[in-house]
Amino acid sequence: MKLILRLFLFGYVLIAWLPVANAQDPSVVIPVPVDVELMDGVYRFTDGPSVRFKRVSPEKICAEGYVLTVSARGVTVNASDDAGEFYAMQTLRQMTGNGRHKEIRCCRIEDYPRFPYRGVHFDVSRHFRSVDFLKKQIDAMAMFKMNMMHIHLTDAAGWRMQIDAFPRLTQVGAWRIGQTWKEWTSAGARYSEEGSADAAGGYYTKDELRDIVGYAAQRHITVIPEIEMPGHSEEVLAAYPELGCSGEAYKGSDFCVGNDAVFEFLETVLTEVMEVFPSEYIHIGGDEAGKEHWKTCPKCQERMRQEGIEDVDGLQSYMIHRIGRFVSSKGRRIIGWDEILDGGLAPDATVMSWRGTEGGIQAMEMGHDVIMTPGRYCYLDHAQDAPFKEPESIGGYLPLDSVYVYEPVEPSMPANKVHHLKGLQANLWAEYIPTDEHAEYMYWPRAFAIAETAWSPVERKDLADFRRRTAGALETLRAEGYSTFDLSSEYGERKLAQTGLNHKAKGCKVTYNPDLPWSERYPAAGESTFTDGVIGGWTYSDRRWQGFLSDIDVTIDLGSVQKVSYVGGTFMQLTGPGVFMPRKVDILVSEDGEDFRLVTTVWNDVSVNAPELLFRSFDTIMDEDVRYVRYHACRSTMRGFLFLDEIVVN
Ligand code: ACM
Repeated sequence: MKLILRLFLFGYVLIAWLPVANAQDPSVVIPVPVDVELMDGVYRFTDGPSVRFKRVSPEKICAEGYVLTVSARGVTVNASDDAGEFYAMQTLRQMTGNGRHKEIRCCRIEDYPRFPYRGVHFDVSRHFRSVDFLKKQIDAMAMFKMNMMHIHLTDAAGWRMQIDAFPRLTQVGAWRIGQTWKEWTSAGARYSEEGSADAAGGYYTKDELRDIVGYAAQRHITVIPEIEMPGHSEEVLAAYPELGCSGEAYKGSDFCVGNDAVFEFLETVLTEVMEVFPSEYIHIGGDEAGKEHWKTCPKCQERMRQEGIEDVDGLQSYMIHRIGRFVSSKGRRIIGWDEILDGGLAPDATVMSWRGTEGGIQAMEMGHDVIMTPGRYCYLDHAQDAPFKEPESIGGYLPLDSVYVYEPVEPSMPANKVHHLKGLQANLWAEYIPTDEHAEYMYWPRAFAIAETAWSPVERKDLADFRRRTAGALETLRAEGYSTFDLSSEYGERKLAQTGLNHKAKGCKVTYNPDLPWSERYPAAGESTFTDGVIGGWTYSDRRWQGFLSDIDVTIDLGSVQKVSYVGGTFMQLTGPGVFMPRKVDILVSEDGEDFRLVTTVWNDVSVNAPELLFRSFDTIMDEDVRYVRYHACRSTMRGFLFLDEIVVN
């Protein structure tokens, strides 16, 4: 009887709850909405859900915000603008798994964005992408409520926009010898001509770009064009060498700022750009100009004299100011990488802070708007998993979790200036990303994390829950034909980097040879680095690896004479950015800190030509009673960086 009762009750519970349990509820949505209230009941539909839209005033619901109510009879959306209605539909789209699920849980969702700028960047210069590829990414961006597509149209590797006044930009500047960026650079970074048998690359016609802009606008996405200046402009100088200081192709990468023809060129180009792109922001690059030729170029020197400019940073600032005035005169605003701060920021310029967040904070303090895109959190060109299992990348390690934990509002930001922080952006530089599939793999899911940080209130963020929702969203994207990263096969950070390591020298004092200090760029934890038990991860920029542009020569004091049976340190090699194993390591010991005896020399046996990321321990076993251990690593004859994270003593 009891069993029957229990079965009956269980059956009853099942009947009552099964439909609700099977129905999709808002807990799948990325970015996580501001407020969700679940209600009893389920809304079932056959083809698509029935949705009633109601307009309300902006006082009731802010721009881009919405209130979505699902009842057993249908869905109601309240919003004050088209974007809000559109975003409500994206939430619904996710709840129905893009139409795969025909039952959704009754609920009320109130939602609006934290930041007005939620961007994704596309580098179509390093590898040209099809219009279809861009539209496909626009679809995905829209689904996750991202609203700014920054398109990097020009760079050394190829000019990608038809410009009627300067046809050689696309006849020459869009075509290179070398299908991939790597092939092109390793064959000497030469250009070709449209129609030549060896020409690789491409460009968008204005009609194609208008098509992309229109397609994006229908999805409430603004396309922001970037035209690089004054650096990263080798392809322009190949097409129009007279715009560089030397007057010759293949000599320099910067425009000649002393030459008025350069301003005529840029203003003409930007006029055509603004005819195609209606965005308020026009991105004028500004990053990584070499500025070398300007120091000796008579025209640049003359410009500096005439304008009372003291240095080449001032000359770059002159150019950005002048272009800024031109763009403003057309009713638009410039945005540029944080180097546009150097030499003085142009009025009304918005700064995209990429070298860290300091530039952005400085610009905010000066009353300028800022988009945060610090490399440490927002550069999706870094490997997203253990580099040994990933496709070749520019280096670094930026897993989903590290993108997600980024909080753009920092305590050091003045409270009365925080409103200048307009949002954030995921950047994907494409030097090592030749195919569309590879690019998708790098964007998704890490761009979800940028979307959630840019949209959702910080109190609503939760890493574990985000990862759960990400798994579902990836399934939806894969069902739509996207080539995403597979989160279920994530290997993660180096194992010891996750756990740390206890050993005899942990916490012991380390004395550095005063002639051989660490590099200021890579201090890690300073003089405690080698004995703090903190092990470096997959990238030398994780602030756990200490970098040296010299030998390393340090002595550890164990505090008392002790039995030592092992001494070792692990080095990293990544030849691309110039990181090499030491040539050899001498390991010495002493009882008194005065007389040291050599225990062993460990020689390097790793090839300096190995292209992949490598780790190797330079270690020895021994049987010694000692107080001091000296570890002397000799820099490679390749003269790059040495990176060491810990010296383990046991
Ligand atoms: C940049 O990554 N050079 C903006």
